[in-house]
Amino acid sequence: MEQKPVYYSDYLQLDKILNAQAPESAKHGVRADDEMLFIIIHQTYELWFKQMFHEINLVREIFQKETVEENSADIFNAVHRLNRVSEILKILVSQMTVMETMTPLDFLDFRDFLRPASGFQSIQFKIAEAMLGLPFDQRFGQEYYVSQLREEDRKLVKDYEKEDSLFVLIERWLARMPFAKNGWETKDGFWQEYKVAYAKSLQDGETTNLDYFESMFLDGKDYPSDLRLGKDASRSALFIMLYRDYPLLNGPYQLINGLLDIDDLLAQWRYRHMNMVKRMIGKRVGTGGSTGAKYLQKAAQNHYIYKEFADLTSFLLQRNELPKLPQDIVADLSYKH
Ligand code: HEM
Repeated sequence: MEQKPVYYSDYLQLDKILNAQAPESAKHGVRADDEMLFIIIHQTYELWFKQMFHEINLVREIFQKETVEENSADIFNAVHRLNRVSEILKILVSQMTVMETMTPLDFLDFRDFLRPASGFQSIQFKIAEAMLGLPFDQRFGQEYYVSQLREEDRKLVKDYEKEDSLFVLIERWLARMPFAKNGWETKDGFWQEYKVAYAKSLQDGETTNLDYFESMFLDGKDYPSDLRLGKDASRSALFIMLYRDYPLLNGPYQLINGLLDIDDLLAQWRYRHMNMVKRMIGKRVGTGGSTGAKYLQKAAQNHYIYKEFADLTSFLLQRNELPKLPQDIVADLSYKH
């Protein structure tokens, strides 16, 4: 079949995008020159949210498979996509500077026309958070989190929350790895051996850390009930962080690191947005029905998604103190000839 020539503006449907700015102030016959910027900034954010969501879903698709080899194209593809999410987030953080060129007085020219619309009603943002793995019960402000949404949007967000998030899928993948099993590898079992080295590294007064280590990593101890990462997944994640220099663990390490980058950048966005909001509306409540800057501060503090991965760094040891891995394991973790 002959291909029809594609025309730039048709392909990008610019007729829709470039005609999608309708300032409320103009509808009220009021001149508010900065409302155009306000609309375009939000639309740009929404487009990037859409792209982020697309990437996150592709990574979820990879981890929905029954098996994902540590040394497979899948892992490197997932790492690549998570890097892209991070790069998008960097844009989203820095884009705040354009928003900040609008002064509080400029905003007041049209703010009242927008009620009760707010970024708080961005379902793409809520869905992206849920798909990355922020669970409802970890949310601050649960009472108003979806209260401002239309019924169909509320349902959509709730439906997504029922799906397996990236956190859940990666947790399962880690739990399936062999390093999770005690008795695997060394004579006494890797985690017993690691405990001895870890105990030596503790400073005076840090003994409670050893109890915590035992409950986190040793068999027969009660695992902390408030954690979302199970014991097996925690073992694998720590093992990957410790022995990441071995070729087959490098992809998984980059993956975990990619999740931490995303959390870090999301937090940067939350703080940046919160500071901008404080300057813009002071102590006033948000148009979206929350407590405004106060809510945003709590969300910034509480909505770290991959915190449990970050917390594992308390159990790291310097390289020369690490248990030496037996030759057959080293061979298993290396590229094959
Ligand atoms: C003048 C500029 C802005 C002001 C004064 C403002 C104000 C607020 C306030 C007060 C909230 C808390 C919820 C509520 O409304 O009660 C909020 C939430 C939110 N805003 Fe903005 N915002 C601004 C710009 C933006 C921009 C450019 C975006 C980009 C999409 C955005 C996205 C969001 C999101 C996603 C939330 C929910 C955050 C969360 O639940 O953690 N806002 N905003």
